[in-house]
Amino acid sequence: MFLDKITTVSDEFDNDLAGVKALKNLEELRIKYLSRNGIVSGLFEKLKDVPKEEKPAIGNKLNALRSYVSDNFNKVKIKLEEEGIGANKKIDLTLPGSQRQLGSKHILTQTVDEIKYIFKGMGFSTFEGPELESDYYNFEALNFAPDHPARDMQDTYFVAKDYLLRTHTSPVQVRVMKNYKPPIRAIMPGRVYRSEAVSARSYCMFHQVEGLVIDTDITFAELKGTLVFFAKQFYGSQLKYRFRASFFPFTEPSAEMDITCYICGGKGCKICKHTGWLEILGCGMVDPNVLINCGIDPEKYRGYAFGMGIERTAMLKYNVQDIRIFFENDFRFLKQF
Ligand code: DAH
Repeated sequence: MFLDKITTVSDEFDNDLAGVKALKNLEELRIKYLSRNGIVSGLFEKLKDVPKEEKPAIGNKLNALRSYVSDNFNKVKIKLEEEGIGANKKIDLTLPGSQRQLGSKHILTQTVDEIKYIFKGMGFSTFEGPELESDYYNFEALNFAPDHPARDMQDTYFVAKDYLLRTHTSPVQVRVMKNYKPPIRAIMPGRVYRSEAVSARSYCMFHQVEGLVIDTDITFAELKGTLVFFAKQFYGSQLKYRFRASFFPFTEPSAEMDITCYICGGKGCKICKHTGWLEILGCGMVDPNVLINCGIDPEKYRGYAFGMGIERTAMLKYNVQDIRIFFENDFRFLKQF
């Protein structure tokens, strides 16, 4: 009786399996035969009613049935899956191709490249230095005494007692002066870090370009001539400019350079805080103490230096209102440049 039932189920399964044309039907078949409430489990359930002496033989048959059903089921499943993959692989040559977006240089890289290009035309080479600096290069060699209040001008990320993320590119000046003999004519672009509250105007990381010129007959007039030439090339030849006296520990005298606000043409607007002027860089004659720290004789050589923020420069030139957008990699912003 029971053995006949097993044979019937086996035949019925063969029949059903032969009729399966798609994976969906196969799933119906799995539920019918192999699920917890399926036919095969049902037969195993009935095994408990079989007389004891017949149990081993029938149990064997049932196990064989279960293997038979699941093996054949899997064979058909694999076959159907492979056919499915094959079908997906077929290429429809009439479909339009997918559009690839072309990348471009980030606007900050473009800005640095343009600055480098202008200074290259005036005989400046480019140097780079480490972003992880020692206190010595970032402050001490640049004439910041250990308790100098000017250290507070730049909120510093310290990494260890005497090591920090550089707060400006000026330490590269020191490295260049220590490693090369004058005459020196160099610009030094790079990333800098300050522990500042992030806002539309300031970010914890940004970029600067530093400049340094050392020679025997350098004057403040040359500094002005060089920077005015740069500003006119970069911002446009119509601009007006002014130099204001300022203070930096590593330059004496020190100045800041302003240009007329080209958003409002000098009339006064939100961007220039209604002054008509925009500050674009700091500069000055290299302090003799710095020359001495770098092994250069201040009796024989003089020099000037300058530093400008790249984000600030790009924000002014392209009227970008929020510094954070440079670092968000938003495609809608990037592709405008
Ligand atoms: N290091 C200064 C800063 O981060 C900028 C600067 C000012 C650099 C005057 C110079 C300089 O080389 O001469 O604010």
